[in-house]
Amino acid sequence: MPSYAITGAARGIGYEFVRQLSAQPGNVVFGLIRSKSTAGNLFELAKNASNIHVLQADVADSQAVKEAAAEVAKITGGTLDCLINNAAFLEVEHRNYTFDTYPEEYLAQDMNKSFEVNVLGVIYTTNAFLPLIQQGSMKKVLTLSSGMGDLDGVREIGINSAGPYSVSKAAVNMVMVKYAARFKDEGIVFLTISPGLVNTLQGPPSPAIVQELSLLTKLLKKVYPNWSGKPLEPEESVRLQLEILERATIKDSGAFVSHHGNKQWV
Ligand SMILES: NC(=O)c1ccc[n+]([C@@H]2O[C@H](COP(=O)([O-])OP(=O)(O)OC[C@H]3O[C@@H](n4cnc5c(N)ncnc54)[C@H](OP(=O)(O)O)[C@@H]3O)[C@@H](O)[C@H]2O)c1
Repeated sequence: MPSYAITGAARGIGYEFVRQLSAQPGNVVFGLIRSKSTAGNLFELAKNASNIHVLQADVADSQAVKEAAAEVAKITGGTLDCLINNAAFLEVEHRNYTFDTYPEEYLAQDMNKSFEVNVLGVIYTTNAFLPLIQQGSMKKVLTLSSGMGDLDGVREIGINSAGPYSVSKAAVNMVMVKYAARFKDEGIVFLTISPGLVNTLQGPPSPAIVQELSLLTKLLKKVYPNWSGKPLEPEESVRLQLEILERATIKDSGAFVSHHGNKQWV
């Protein structure tokens, strides 16, 4: 029975991974959530699917993640086929600042929080689940990064905001390369994917978000004139990511690609 654990499963892309993977009755799927308060839809989904297990763990809390891995091990008999590091923190209030305009009282706080969740959280989670992955048959770890963490992409597109998030995503790309180098001989595949620009808003966008998206769309259109200009729905992004994940072999370990499987970020 293929087994998958997904962090940040309460909503957005993480929820969609759980939904699509659990639709195959042969799979057993563990959805890790930070808080029950945002996980209503996931609990609803789990009510009608015996192959979904919901566990609570903040990825920035290494002990909590170890406890979640122990719970998974109890259910699977000590194995996990695939870990999906999806959870992430994006500072919403301050994301439009550039580094030179970032108020100093927020800068250290936002850098630290981004690092704590998006980098250390991925390391804690990966380390906690590694012994299970080593016993699994698929041996895959997928981490969701972002085109915002691709140095060449950001240079080309010219996105100057969301610095702390972007820095943390660039860092986690390197984290995955290190794991790939470390575990190549064991045949564990570490893959990093940017999911594209995906609509994970809950409810209609605020005027500020509409304006921000329109600016981003203009920048992206200059580099990708054939792009539709529309964000993907989670359903399509996750479907494309799962195809890439399924195809990935040890030769791809350490790669950072988009949902298209290349360096085209939208
Ligand atoms: N959406 C996009 O366009 C886009 C583009 C590029 C990359 N990505 C990447 O794709 C992934 C998913 O994005 P998304 O849009 O689905 O994000 P989202 O809607 O903001 O959901 C993020 C999820 O991560 C959880 N989370 C945050 N901090 C956590 C922590 N410390 N411990 C455990 N869980 C935590 C959140 O929990 P709560 O519900 O409790 O807040 C939430 O369930 C992220 O890695 C993101 O960086 C997304």
